[in-house]
Amino acid sequence: MSENEAGTLKVDPHLPNPARIYNYFLGGKDNFAADRAAAEQVLAMAPEVRAAVRENREFLVRAVRYLVGEAGIKQFVDIGAGIPAERPVHEVAQGVDPAARVAYVDNDTVVLVHARALLDRGRGTAVVDGDLRRPEDILDSPDLRRVIDLGEPVAVILIAVLHFVPDGDDPTGIVRRLMDRLPSGSHLVISHISDGGMPDDPRIVRTRELYQGALIFRPRERIESFFAGLERVGPGLVGVASWGGDGADETSWWLGGIARKP
Ligand SMILES: C[S@@+](CC[C@H](N)C(=O)[O-])C[C@H]1O[C@@H](n2cnc3c(N)ncnc32)[C@H](O)[C@@H]1O
Repeated sequence: MSENEAGTLKVDPHLPNPARIYNYFLGGKDNFAADRAAAEQVLAMAPEVRAAVRENREFLVRAVRYLVGEAGIKQFVDIGAGIPAERPVHEVAQGVDPAARVAYVDNDTVVLVHARALLDRGRGTAVVDGDLRRPEDILDSPDLRRVIDLGEPVAVILIAVLHFVPDGDDPTGIVRRLMDRLPSGSHLVISHISDGGMPDDPRIVRTRELYQGALIFRPRERIESFFAGLERVGPGLVGVASWGGDGADETSWWLGGIARKP
């Protein structure tokens, strides 16, 4: 993306941005110098982050395949969907069931522009300008309702996004309000950065600084609590590489899990 495009979109190319940093980690080109500089500082401290981000995407792919193939889910609401990456949710889901439908939700201007260019309409997909902190607005969005029937089970995907919602915004309540609106048989997928029991680790402290405090490393028990009232499926909350994968769990500070609404 050029600086000119940035001007038109009214984004600040000088401020590192989580969606664009993540895009850089994944080897994408939709990022600016400030994003690359922040990402490289993280990688200098913790080179394993690049592999962890890829493992996180692999977890997403395995989760979607499981949900369509084994849980019979046909509808997905992917919140904090990010700049479109390889194997987006609808491609994976429709590879198993061509009737699967996906609403991609994000609150970032750059993400929405890219998503609308690549993912919107005609493929059983919709792109929704929505903020996770206002879950009712997301579910009531006409764009979302075009492809999602809230009378049928839905999988809500919160991959690498809840850790951008501070406790002051009540992330537990947000998840509950989302799931309360959905019928029995709906599923919740979460991946979340954990503090690995070492909240004062200098790498965590410095990474938080690089994200201007926006990235929240939570203890495992706190992440577990987002699944309250739901039935865990599969191995529970584990390192993302371990959920349905055969990889060694080298990323245990990045946890993932899936649960079903009874
Ligand atoms: C690290 S990226 C993850 C992208 C994608 N889920 C994945 O795993 O490939 C986090 C995304 O969450 C989005 N995000 C952060 N806070 C959000 C909020 N309150 N509402 C909606 N999206 C949000 C960011 O814009 C960014 O695109």
